[in-house]
Amino acid sequence: MGGREKELNDEDFIVSKTDTKGKIIYCNEIFAKMAGYKISDLIGANHNIIRHPDMPALAFKIAWELIQSKKEFFGFVKNLCSNGNYYWVFACITADLDVDGNIISYTSVRRKAPKCAIETIIPIYKLLLDAEISQGVKASSKVLDNFLNQNQTTYDEFIINLQNNIKAKS
Ligand SMILES: Cc1cc2nc3c(=O)[nH]c(=O)nc-3n(C[C@H](O)[C@H](O)[C@H](O)COP(=O)(O)O)c2cc1C
Repeated sequence: MGGREKELNDEDFIVSKTDTKGKIIYCNEIFAKMAGYKISDLIGANHNIIRHPDMPALAFKIAWELIQSKKEFFGFVKNLCSNGNYYWVFACITADLDVDGNIISYTSVRRKAPKCAIETIIPIYKLLLDAEISQGVKASSKVLDNFLNQNQTTYDEFIINLQNNIKAKS
């Protein structure tokens, strides 16, 4: 899939909030601007409206498993604009809890992903996606586990180091 890359400004934060099913209930102006929609088109839409086909399903499986168990998800996400362009972000997604600890919604805050991190993650996502296309998400999960084992790291450590190392260098 083609499309041109759009870049976030260094100081920008993209924010959105969903209900427990992943339907958008809030997004900020910069979210709508980057994705190429009006805010009113986005409210009520499933968050997968900006899902890019280059993203492996495994990334979202990991995200949902973590946030549903009230843990933070960090990851690099390639998002699709309404006109076929795309933009990369470093995303954090968390559950919002009521006073009894029940999940009432989810919130995501994203900022610009460093170029080096994107360059590292592209071939990894390609491997995962290829495994998914031929053999499904179980297979891509094995590919990721092997990669993390070989690099003696965990998913969180890998992702956060990627973001931080690059930040330290720039
Ligand atoms: C708060 C929140 C923010 C999300 N942000 C994104 C996002 O920016 N891009 C994206 O593709 N999916 C995002 N997702 C995940 C989507 O809900 C969905 O799982 C993903 O797009 C895959 O969709 P699909 O399973 O229908 O293919 C987010 C989910 C939540 C709860």
